[in-house]
Amino acid sequence: MTKIDVLLGLQWGDEGKGKIVDVLTPRYDVIARFQGGPNAGHTIEFNGTKHVLHIIPSGIFHQEKINLIGNGVLIEPNIFRQEIDGLTAKGVDATKNLFVSKKAHLILPTHRMMDAANEQAKGNAKIGSTLKGIGPAYTDKIARNGLRVGDTLAEDFIERYGQLKRQHLMMARAMNFDVDQFRIDGMSLGEYEKVWMESLATLKRFRFVNSEYFINQCLREDKKILAEGAQAMMLDVDFGTYPFVTSSNTITAGVCTGLGVAPSTIGEVMGITKAYCTRVGAGPFPTQLDDEIGKQLCELGHEYGATTGRPRRCGWIDVTALRYACMINGVTQLFVTKPDVMNDFDTVNMCTAYDIDGQQTDEIPYEYNTANIIPVLTPFEGWKQSLEGIADYDALPERLKTFLAAIEERTGVRVAAVSTSPDRKDVLFK
Ligand code: GDP
Ligand code: IMO
Ligand code: MG
Repeated sequence: MTKIDVLLGLQWGDEGKGKIVDVLTPRYDVIARFQGGPNAGHTIEFNGTKHVLHIIPSGIFHQEKINLIGNGVLIEPNIFRQEIDGLTAKGVDATKNLFVSKKAHLILPTHRMMDAANEQAKGNAKIGSTLKGIGPAYTDKIARNGLRVGDTLAEDFIERYGQLKRQHLMMARAMNFDVDQFRIDGMSLGEYEKVWMESLATLKRFRFVNSEYFINQCLREDKKILAEGAQAMMLDVDFGTYPFVTSSNTITAGVCTGLGVAPSTIGEVMGITKAYCTRVGAGPFPTQLDDEIGKQLCELGHEYGATTGRPRRCGWIDVTALRYACMINGVTQLFVTKPDVMNDFDTVNMCTAYDIDGQQTDEIPYEYNTANIIPVLTPFEGWKQSLEGIADYDALPERLKTFLAAIEERTGVRVAAVSTSPDRKDVLFK
């Protein structure tokens, strides 16, 4: 039987997962999202146009391929509708090849309100959530209060919706959250709820499936499946920089629970890393650069959130964290993106260990605070040349290949490909 390949981010998100999924899609029959929701922003560029996807898998631009939103994903119907409308405007009809799990949970307008209420209550300790309702919706899933896609077809859906909404309103008021002043996209809760309800009609135009049977049937038919991760390793709820994480398992293990497949069906695990590192939102980030180089990475790399527009914090690549990510996920191939951003750098640094209270370690400590951790940096000579037009891995500058070889050596995982621009055409396989 064929195996499911997995593609996921190894840092704090935005590694270029969307682009690589789009490039690999021709090799697969099915592209499936298994966790996360509209907190994700996956950018794909081709023919001079940029597309950003939040809930829909990044295989959608290949209309002959099946795209599946798995049970582990959260769907916000109005954001889903906006995405569908955006695709339709670009001539992409997703109704034929997009399937939705009946077991995927819904994000209600009041989940988004609770996200804001929780962040407000945390004060200075806030996570810097995308405010898309992710934490509260997964909380309701685990607490067994959630509503699922399949429930939208039930006669008592509105009643159950009302019940959950009332609970959220009670909680928000108990937290002294100003419900009347709360806005989503400039709309009051009542106004947004109306739009949200109308958007259910768009969602219902898609085929709702028992996705665990659907995907296992695809496996039996020897279809090639790629599972597309969102967020990334260091935002995983168990193994990331807790509590500054998202609320799902972003790791390879999440594929099994987020799609309903057995661990033995997992094949290749492709881990995506930038040639440097970024983080958006709060939380520790040992290699962060608060200097001119950090600013340069942000500007040259256009490091602004695809979902929230917030500037991303930037710093050097952290191979200590990468080694950890390869271990937890069983990564079999590395994809390195965005080295082109550092084309003009004299020196490119790599964090190869952490100095904690004078002791060097290459493990991720339990107390993961930027204040405790001094990154040990290994310098590499910059390649000082444009990568534009290079079509072959072997033709990459020697100094860049030395840098890539060091990543391979220290992670024990081979680099399978390098991406050198946002465009679909620029991925060089080794
Ligand atoms: P994702 O969330 O992992 O899919 O990544 P995002 O789309 O949020 O962020 C990655 C950003 O980098 C997007 O703007 C991409 O267009 C861009 N990008 C991807 N690969 C490359 C690359 O190799 N070079 C450059 N310069 N930009 C890239
Ligand atoms: P993609 O798939 C980068 C971050 C948020 C915040 C934390 C929790 O595009 O790589 P949440 O809204 O999930 O409760 O926020 O996680 N975050 C991301 N950062 N890329 C993402 O997704 C992210 N999704 C969530 O900024 O710090
Ligand atoms: Mg992103």
